Amino acid sequence: MVSLRNLIACLAGAAVAAALHIPADSAYAPKHATCPATPLVRGATGISAAESDYITRRHRKASAALKTWLRSVDEGFDSVSKEWPAHSSGKGAKAPVVALTSSGGGYRAMLSGAGVVKAFDGREKVKTGVSGLYQALTYEAGLSGGSWLLSSLSANDYPTISSLQKSLWEEALESSLLVTSILVSTPKDTIYSTVEANVKAKRDAGFEPTIIDPWGRLLAYGLLYGVDGGVRATLSGLTKTSSFKSYMAPYPIITALGVETGSCIPEVNATQYEFHPYEFGSWDAGVAAFAVSKYVGTSFSNGRPIKSCITNYDQLSYVLGTSSNVFAAACTPVPANNSADASLVQNFAAFVSKPGSDVSVRETFGLFPNPFQGRHDSPEVSGLSTLELVDGGVGVGYQGNPIWPFLYRSDVDVIIVNENSADTRDNYPDGTQIVNTYKAAVAVGLKRMPTIPSVETFVTKKLNQKPTFFGCHSTEAATIIFIPNFNYTFTSGQPTSKIQYHRNETVGMISNGVEVGNYGGKDNWPLCLACGITKKNGKKLPDGCAACFEEYCFN
Ligand SMILES: *[C@@H]1O[C@H](CO)[C@@H](O)[C@H](O)[C@H]1NC(C)=O
Ligand SMILES: *[C@@H]1O[C@H](CO)[C@@H](O)[C@H](O)[C@H]1NC(C)=O
Ligand SMILES: *[C@@H]1O[C@H](CO)[C@@H](O)[C@H](O)[C@H]1NC(C)=O
Ligand SMILES: *[C@@H]1O[C@H](CO)[C@@H](O)[C@H](O)[C@H]1NC(C)=O
Repeated sequence: MVSLRNLIACLAGAAVAAALHIPADSAYAPKHATCPATPLVRGATGISAAESDYITRRHRKASAALKTWLRSVDEGFDSVSKEWPAHSSGKGAKAPVVALTSSGGGYRAMLSGAGVVKAFDGREKVKTGVSGLYQALTYEAGLSGGSWLLSSLSANDYPTISSLQKSLWEEALESSLLVTSILVSTPKDTIYSTVEANVKAKRDAGFEPTIIDPWGRLLAYGLLYGVDGGVRATLSGLTKTSSFKSYMAPYPIITALGVETGSCIPEVNATQYEFHPYEFGSWDAGVAAFAVSKYVGTSFSNGRPIKSCITNYDQLSYVLGTSSNVFAAACTPVPANNSADASLVQNFAAFVSKPGSDVSVRETFGLFPNPFQGRHDSPEVSGLSTLELVDGGVGVGYQGNPIWPFLYRSDVDVIIVNENSADTRDNYPDGTQIVNTYKAAVAVGLKRMPTIPSVETFVTKKLNQKPTFFGCHSTEAATIIFIPNFNYTFTSGQPTSKIQYHRNETVGMISNGVEVGNYGGKDNWPLCLACGITKKNGKKLPDGCAACFEEYCFN
């Protein structure tokens, strides 16, 4: 018989053991939670009630900012914006809903995209002709390098680019943790062991870590403020920032691609997933469902949690790491090797597996317990317990710019597409990415995508080197304002694989990006951009607009 004293000792011992079992850095590990009574998975019939509520309130603020900006450009816009009621919903004249997309392309895309945001941001000290337009955005999407930019903005409560550049990026990109000799060097020891412990904590909690865990964590040290490289930042937690709570910021969306089981390269019709503060999922026919972001990590059967719910799986670093997962494409096991001479991906592998052993191909994906398992209306994935995700811009029909989410949101009127992809040999865009999105949209009948000409046309008419508007004259399609990376003041066509930028290069890239957003200071750009944005939402546009449409509208 067990004495009472022993029993108490055992219980105490058990309690201690349990407490010891929770790793000190469990801020990263997924956690068990009680499931809410409300449904956690739904069919993709429209945006969620939560997003709809956010967007309605955000659009009011964005409209006010748009009016202010338009007036600063030309007083002639007054009569246009007078037609817009303060609280509009449904059909009829209203201020346009404007979205910005930032493409992939590693740090090149992040920095060039940041320059465009800086050009648009009315809070920056140095003004451009388009300062104030950032405040008029309702949505902002990022893919891969673009998702690094968007995460750095949204998780840090929307500081200015100038402040991120000075206080975080310049140093982080110069002593880059992605340079293996820096990663394994003595001063970085604590970061190295913290990330190691993060990965272990995830495994100990019963989840499969992959190389995307260290990839995302190490990137996050340069993107997110807060202890241990922003380890407390989650996708669903973005709703807790004061900018979000006061509807001061565009609604952020990060994209990634699904890969079919047994393959590594996404097919031309691969499922496009979107991650946002409220939901994760896809509009595409094979999935056509969304799950509540906070509970991503939970195992579901036909929309119901199988056991308890899981939270904290939606680590922002894991999401941005997944969006930029270019490693699975190699489709081979990776030797774990934590030496300065080994490759970066081999070093990531060493966080997941013992040096000397291999990580499997599966361990090169961003893995997500499949919220749509057993769901009849999600035929592509209903049989899968886990979703295997990769960079949104890779595969057979790669689309390096996150335009897709807005082709399903029919109230988005204008999509400002900032293109920083490396299509040409010298790492500039040639239209390939947006052409691929156009082809994919035609294939599934998405009418919001305007007609996009061929890559040959982009190149011969130099549409890949200057801002161009598409869909100006289409009532069915959204208007796309295409703004490609171009070397106005700096060689901004840096390779995607460049993982270290000296301070002067970070400065040069962002300053050039400002020129990209401001069309190199071209005289008629502010007016013409304003005309393009308001074309379908205003009757009496200023006189100058006709010439703008002549110059900037491709169709
Ligand atoms: C892509 O198309 C093929 C052929 O029609 C189909 O078998 C496959 O299920 C599709 N994949 C997705 C993800 O929809
Ligand atoms: C790690 O990589 C280095 C450099 O390529 C190589 O010399 C070493 O043998 C590798 N170690 C293991 C355990 O494979
Ligand atoms: C931009 O690139 C072109 C073509 O390589 C080159 O001729 C030009 O000098 C570059 N401009 C700047 C500012 O680097
Ligand atoms: C940036 O600074 C480094 C180190 O001082 C120098 O070697 C390099 O040439 C500079 N690059 C540019 C683009 O100015």
